[in-house]
Amino acid sequence: MAGKLIIGNWKMNTRAQSAQSLVAALLADPVCNQPWVGVAAPAVYLAALGAQLAGQALQLSAQDVSSFSADGAFTGEVSAAMLRDVGCRYALVGHSERRQYFGEANPALLSKMNNAMAAGLVPVLCVGETLAERESGQYLEVIFSQLAILAEVSAGEYVIAYEPVWAIGTGKVASLEQIAEIHTAIKTWCLQNAKPSANIRVLYGGSVKAENAESILKTENVDGALVGGASLDAGSFRMICQAA
Ligand code: G3P
Repeated sequence: MAGKLIIGNWKMNTRAQSAQSLVAALLADPVCNQPWVGVAAPAVYLAALGAQLAGQALQLSAQDVSSFSADGAFTGEVSAAMLRDVGCRYALVGHSERRQYFGEANPALLSKMNNAMAAGLVPVLCVGETLAERESGQYLEVIFSQLAILAEVSAGEYVIAYEPVWAIGTGKVASLEQIAEIHTAIKTWCLQNAKPSANIRVLYGGSVKAENAESILKTENVDGALVGGASLDAGSFRMICQAA
């Protein structure tokens, strides 16, 4: 459905051939080959997939973007301009796995957001609490602290993804009440603090599957989904897109 945004986050999975085959299957399916559907592939495959997606509706996303904007001595980095150069429309920023394993935090994430928007990408800022933060009742404070950079971003379009860390890859999807609470809180926070403040889409991520997608996508203030494991199977991903 137009308006919902469904992005499949492949994480560190696929090889050149399987990535190309998965994209080919999605392109052949009118349910998935839509401008409101995207795939976030490993950086090494983005150029080939960008060529495969040229002229198609299905969109391409990066899983990260450099906090450095200018070309130069930043070994291993991939700039926002390079991502646009190979056909990316979106770039994930601050995914919980990058915060957890690579220590990513707000100062660098603000640069990533601004670099992405300056290059014409739509960044997807990922926020979410750990199980400990959920159980301690600190989850809203944690999420608001992760959102804080949105009070400082340069003008541009971005998307937010709420991904409770305890629901990622665990099969323990957040309840519809929990999803509604947080998505509403995020939008309220944005109205009061973010630039721009209105019409910011908030996706849900964390064990989204074919069997739960419809109820999640019908939940108040849910504007789409960021799908991990299920996005690696064309049939499962199709059913999630069909539920949108
Ligand atoms: O970015 C989406 C991802 O973190 C969710 O993973 O496997 O729980 O759908 P999964």
